[in-house]
Amino acid sequence: MIRFIIFVFFLLLSPVLAHGQDETLNILYTGSINGELEPCGCSPKSESGGLARLSGFISSQKKGLSPYLLIDAGNSMAEDSPQGRFKAEAILKAFSIMDYDVAAFLKHEAAFHGDFLLPLAKKNGVPVISGLRGSSRTASFERGPFKINASVDPGGLRKGRLNILLTDKPVSDARAIRHWDVIITSSGEELEEPVKVNGTVIVSGYPRNKKLGILTLSFGKKGITKATHRWQSLGREIEEDAEVRGVLKEYDSRVAGLLKEDEKKAASGGQYAGAVKCAECHKPFSESWEKTRHAGAFDSLVNAGKSKDPECVKCHTVGFGEEGGFYSAVTTPQLKDVQCEACHGPGRDHAQELTPLRPVTEQACLRCHTKSNSPDFDFKLYHEKIKH
Ligand code: HEC
Ligand code: HEC
Ligand code: HEC
Ligand code: HEC
Repeated sequence: MIRFIIFVFFLLLSPVLAHGQDETLNILYTGSINGELEPCGCSPKSESGGLARLSGFISSQKKGLSPYLLIDAGNSMAEDSPQGRFKAEAILKAFSIMDYDVAAFLKHEAAFHGDFLLPLAKKNGVPVISGLRGSSRTASFERGPFKINASVDPGGLRKGRLNILLTDKPVSDARAIRHWDVIITSSGEELEEPVKVNGTVIVSGYPRNKKLGILTLSFGKKGITKATHRWQSLGREIEEDAEVRGVLKEYDSRVAGLLKEDEKKAASGGQYAGAVKCAECHKPFSESWEKTRHAGAFDSLVNAGKSKDPECVKCHTVGFGEEGGFYSAVTTPQLKDVQCEACHGPGRDHAQELTPLRPVTEQACLRCHTKSNSPDFDFKLYHEKIKH
């Protein structure tokens, strides 16, 4: 009996674990999501990620992953703009559906003006830690036999707990922070493997939520005995969570509502002429352009339900955001798609007075064919496909 009491007493004092040993805990983590609700679908290669798949993966694997923690290490938000605020609402709703244990608010979140984000997190029941006024820096909770202390404060260690620091410091700086069991950064660095230094395991949220980090800790009597790690990719093969998809749909329609079509008069007299005008004198060029994917670029957005999203429209039309450029399919239908003037530059003067157009260089393509949207871009190969 006495031995039993001593045994129990010992366990109550033992750090991190409330009982037993050889337990494992999965830490599922994101960080530096940076407002990326889902991948744009521009290229099969950059098709991974998205909150709906993240949620689908977790809910389908719950059993095998348990016990697990779900943590966001910060910089989940984009910038503070009307669209950025809709994103924030969608992200926090999705976090709530996935039942995040804790989310850090760091640099990106601190850049939001007024009292917007913290009340929003509260409304959605997402536990937040941050250095912002009105928020706690530290969260303590339990998961099965594990007692957790998560903090954004490098001085916020607590004895007898699994100490997890959430930061957006780069890994090179995080290495110097001592005594934490785990540091998760949202610095936006891609780490193939965790960095292990002085008994601390450092991991970094995969930029833009392209992959889910899973850190598996094994515990013995004296604490962590083993740390293994894997990246769970979030490709098309992962079934989406319908509830989060619903949140993203709602987001799309709210973004579409930002268009002020009734206030904008149909554009007349801008610097752009439109492909129909060019075709009057350059029929063969026009016919060959129509056979390229550029001519169907706007339909791709329509099919994706994103034809009113400025973040997509800017590369799938002509002159978006410029005076006289594309505004919406209703007000400026003549400037849909990647037309002649997306490459040759504004051509109204040329169409009227034959003033010369600028030569087209690779630079013109790279404005849209970025590394993330067009990872296979190669000027020679791509030029061959659109030559006319
Ligand atoms: C009124 C007829 C007319 C219209 C409309 C017109 N062009 Fe031209 N374009 C010409 C002529 C003529 C030339 C000169 C051809 C030559 O010198 O061989 C030319 C030349 C060009 C060239 C060669 C480079 C240069 O500046 O000389 C490009 C590129 C071009 N046009 C693109 C366009 C585009 C894009 C549009 C629509 C915005 C357009 N054109 C509209 C008549 C027209
Ligand atoms: C205004 C943005 C924009 C510019 C500028 C632009 N593109 Fe594109 N390009 C696109 C978009 C968007 C698509 C995809 C269209 C779709 O299928 O919806 C695309 C598709 C293509 C494709 C088809 C890819 C494939 O695998 O079939 C080629 C080739 C291409 N572009 C070449 C070029 C080249 C070369 C240039 C420069 C001379 C260029 N593009 C300039 C936006 C642009
Ligand atoms: C920075 C410019 C850029 C932005 C922003 C952009 N796209 Fe694209 N998109 C492209 C280019 C370039 C391609 C062609 C890529 C290639 O084939 O190499 C493309 C292709 C596509 C395709 C065709 C894919 C296929 O294989 O048929 C879809 C769909 C698409 N984009 C949707 C979107 C959506 C949705 C958004 C907004 C969330 C978006 N794009 C934002 C440049 C952009
Ligand atoms: C994806 C980019 C792109 C688009 C879209 C595009 N062009 Fe071009 N165009 C080029 C490139 C690249 C050349 C090669 C000559 C150069 O580098 O200026 C060229 C050449 C031309 C020339 C011949 C210039 C010369 O020096 O003889 C004409 C005319 C022309 N394009 C008209 C058009 C018209 C009209 C359209 C729309 C119907 C169009 N282009 C769409 C990229 C584009």
